[in-house]
Amino acid sequence: MITASAPGKLILLGEHAVVYGKPAVALAIDRRFACSLETSDEDMLNGRPADFSKHPYIHHMLRKHGVTNVAIDTVSDIPAGSGLGSSAALSVSVSAAIRSMKGESVTEEDIAMDAFDTEYEVQGRASPVDSSASTHGKGIVVNGPGERLWSASRGGNAWDISEIDIPDMTLVVGYTGLHAPTGPLVEKVRKFREKNRFGYDIVEEIGVATLEGINALGVGDIARLGELMSYDHKLLTILGVSCAELDKLVNAVSPYSYGAKLTGAGGGGSMISLTDRPDKVCEVIERRGGQPFAVRTNVKGVSVLNRS
Ligand code: MEV
Repeated sequence: MITASAPGKLILLGEHAVVYGKPAVALAIDRRFACSLETSDEDMLNGRPADFSKHPYIHHMLRKHGVTNVAIDTVSDIPAGSGLGSSAALSVSVSAAIRSMKGESVTEEDIAMDAFDTEYEVQGRASPVDSSASTHGKGIVVNGPGERLWSASRGGNAWDISEIDIPDMTLVVGYTGLHAPTGPLVEKVRKFREKNRFGYDIVEEIGVATLEGINALGVGDIARLGELMSYDHKLLTILGVSCAELDKLVNAVSPYSYGAKLTGAGGGGSMISLTDRPDKVCEVIERRGGQPFAVRTNVKGVSVLNRS
């Protein structure tokens, strides 16, 4: 049996616009998805006979590698549809486990590209931000400065992924409890951007703000980074990917935050606060009906845990 695990992520700046090749910055977080894999007489998932065609990310990854007759067990503390990269962490850990089982290359780049391909096919469109953050861990930048890790291109867009040093900072997540699948939200932005010049301009503006935020991060200017995060939330709201629950939490924590915004695809899922008052922010999120948790960043990426 092979067991592999991979972290969830949060996006500090740049979600949605990154799908069109704009910059983004994402951090791996201390919540993980683990998957164990072994050959079996029939397909099994978590101890029961499984029809993997009902589990699109796993199904795509198994078909991509020509693997059949496997038993997969999964454990995760990343809520599904929470905007915290559960599908990427699943894809990354399943790719690492399959590759290890088959004795194939398990470089970070191979795993990240497997997971990106899976996300792209299942969601209908994607960027490599989630899959790269989950694979590499720590902090990554897409189409910005930093030491290049790997590159990807698809559908006329290209992305260079780099590692970035993360200064000490405290982030609190507020989960709305609303499950929000990524595909339809990405599709909503595609339509708005393609049919409306204003939508196109908002995506461009997210790119500009994100690049400035990456530079602020680089010089440890947390206050400026926070301002840009709050600005980014407004831009994402105009794109139509926020919702009442997210806006309520973002507005409520703002007095106690350098900045706050939705993170990930939106439409529910989670928001983040950059703050030096984490206890107060957690209290406010809870009072407004959200589920708060402080996250640790600078965590390791994919790991193959054991072989037996
Ligand atoms: C989702 O975590 C991030 C999006 O930008 C989609 C993607 O980049 O694939 C909304």
